[in-house]
Amino acid sequence: MPLRIARLDATEVLDSRARPTLSVTLATANGALVRAGVPSGASTGSREAVELRDGDQRRFGGQGVRQAVDHVNEAIAQALIGRTFASAAEVDAALIDLDGTANKSALGANAIVGVSLAAARADAAESGQELWQYLAARSRTVPRLPVPHFNVVNGGAHAVNALDFQEFMLAPLGAPGIAEAVRAGAEVYARLKARLAEAGHATALGDEGGFAPALQQPEDVLELLVDAITDAGYRPGRDGVAVALDPAASEFHDSGRYRVAGQELSSGQLIDRYEEIIGRFPVWSIEDGLAEDDWDGWARLTERLGGRVQLMGDDIFVTNPGVITEAIGRKVGNSALIKVNQIGTVTETLEAMRICREAGYTQMISHRSGESEDSFIADLAVGTGCGQLKSGAPARGERVAKYNRLLEVAAVHTDLPYGLPH
Ligand code: PGA
Ligand code: ZN
Repeated sequence: MPLRIARLDATEVLDSRARPTLSVTLATANGALVRAGVPSGASTGSREAVELRDGDQRRFGGQGVRQAVDHVNEAIAQALIGRTFASAAEVDAALIDLDGTANKSALGANAIVGVSLAAARADAAESGQELWQYLAARSRTVPRLPVPHFNVVNGGAHAVNALDFQEFMLAPLGAPGIAEAVRAGAEVYARLKARLAEAGHATALGDEGGFAPALQQPEDVLELLVDAITDAGYRPGRDGVAVALDPAASEFHDSGRYRVAGQELSSGQLIDRYEEIIGRFPVWSIEDGLAEDDWDGWARLTERLGGRVQLMGDDIFVTNPGVITEAIGRKVGNSALIKVNQIGTVTETLEAMRICREAGYTQMISHRSGESEDSFIADLAVGTGCGQLKSGAPARGERVAKYNRLLEVAAVHTDLPYGLPH
């Protein structure tokens, strides 16, 4: 359906880490009125689309987004208001054209992604469909409810503890449906909290709502997770609750060496460590196991462990269709993490996912450590049918909003399948 934009404006609001971000409001001539919230990362890939920050130290320590807001309210609004677009994909094309740079640095990826998300939502509203149904039609995919990946222990750039690995996630792969999966996440989270308290650890939370205990060795965390899964009455593993890791290795990589828990490891030694870990613990997926510039290491990692676990690229792929195509050609990884704000538009995100699907690379939709209460990514995960979503812990409103959206969708559409696509 043609999309005629009647109003478009942005406001500087706060994200979940008390940093500024954008809220975008869009109205169509037909009367649809929608909003979108813009997410923001901490462990960002160097090839991500550029997020515009004001750099004015007198406001928010330089983190203000007034320039990006102005770009929406002025240049973008002038270019889009009053024009009729055949679809939201055409709005995305206009945004890319107006920006004119390869990395969205002129208008700012934070300005562009807010408008892109709002345009998709408006397009869905005008078509009378749920957002996930609209996205399924747009990407020609079969919808399904994703396995939620609950990040229950936070380290790296998301917490002030000594843990180098950034994320330890619970993946209820064996749950019969999304309601049971969300319940498993919440129950194991509660048991983990009890275990941590018993062991004398603080149960303070990191940026994504996971606990941030003063532990250093990843294996110690994994032992606690297995105990908590068992305590809660689930089977640790793919037929129950498995574990996924996001070490975010670019963050502890320097000049070819990886610093993990006080040790300096080569890429090969870190792969050895992962091999031991997957032999001992029910780890089914490793995201950013090596650094974004260690492509040779990634190829070796994939050769050695790619037949046993999902090896997902986040900082290395940055949801970029060109980079993912290169990775497929070089047999780097077997899976991609998907973040709309890494590339800047919904259209390019769907394109990255299409390339993955055709090459047999799995995909997981992801939040950012700085989030809004917008649950767009839950619909994106359902509509694209990729089968995986990570949105932090089953705690904190901005994280839970996405899981709750999955529950709402499932309650009404009881025929939607749950889990990994086959
Ligand atoms: P970020 O981390 O949102 O802080 O970049 C998330 C991730 O690395 O997956
Ligand atoms: Zn990551």
